[in-house]
Amino acid sequence: MSTIYELTGAGDRYFDGLVDKFSRSLYQAPRGELRLAMLDYLLPQMLRLDQQPVLDIGGGLGQQAAWFAERGHSVTMAEPSIDMLDYARQWHREAKGLPHEAIRYVNAPLQALIDEAPGPWPLITCHAVLEWLGDPRAAIAVLASLLAPGGQLSLMVFNRDALRFSNAVKGNLEKALNDRLEGMGKRQRLTPISPVTHAQIETWSAENRLAITEVAGIRVFQDYLRHPPTSDDERDTLLALERQYCRHDPHWRLGRYLLYTLTKPEAA
Ligand SMILES: C[S@@+](CC[C@H](N)C(=O)[O-])C[C@H]1O[C@@H](n2cnc3c(N)ncnc32)[C@H](O)[C@@H]1O
Repeated sequence: MSTIYELTGAGDRYFDGLVDKFSRSLYQAPRGELRLAMLDYLLPQMLRLDQQPVLDIGGGLGQQAAWFAERGHSVTMAEPSIDMLDYARQWHREAKGLPHEAIRYVNAPLQALIDEAPGPWPLITCHAVLEWLGDPRAAIAVLASLLAPGGQLSLMVFNRDALRFSNAVKGNLEKALNDRLEGMGKRQRLTPISPVTHAQIETWSAENRLAITEVAGIRVFQDYLRHPPTSDDERDTLLALERQYCRHDPHWRLGRYLLYTLTKPEAA
């Protein structure tokens, strides 16, 4: 496996060399389990799903692509890191038993999809990708142009305001005070280089004539627990708590991730 931990010329951080680290520190940990459980709960509420084709951008290890394929959508998964894409392809076949025609794989970054997978798409997912880009604002314009009229974008971003809060809770008071929250994207660090605020999403959506039709917070409470769950019963109670408040103001605003449905207007 390659060990490229540098930013691209555009200032993006592809996850080459990070398969093990990413899967260990997120998806083999309670926070990854909770994220998937919350997406499983929220996506059917926040999206109109009718087995339409879906483009999953920056699909990572492939969980979201598998989720849609298992529900009868034809899925195109785009991912610029060949390490991640190879892992996803193998996992889809061997662990999920998906037929090879269920998912099309495109080894390309978001910025190249106007050429590589132009659509236009009735449904796009772009989860936890913007915060790894040098220019997340420009990415929203690309996403808007890939969407069909009336199409839906499921966008999940790492919440800058929650990052400040968690730094304070961990005792990194200087960092929080000086608002030095971004990671550098070096080595194997998984602190995002471009954490995003709700206000930015509001501005960038409006600039591209996308309407915010739904919003939720993912992992509103989990990261702040002094006594993390130790039994299945306690984990179930935490999941129930997250479900109960993930769409309630003010709680959703401090979710570690913000999950949006952005909708493109029907053509006039
Ligand atoms: C935190 S992971 C998220 C993966 C997956 N969407 C998920 O939610 O688990 C970020 C992913 O974005 C990818 N990425 C980085 N720059 C990108 C770009 N310019 N276009 C598309 N994906 C990009 C990385 O390679 C990595 O797989």
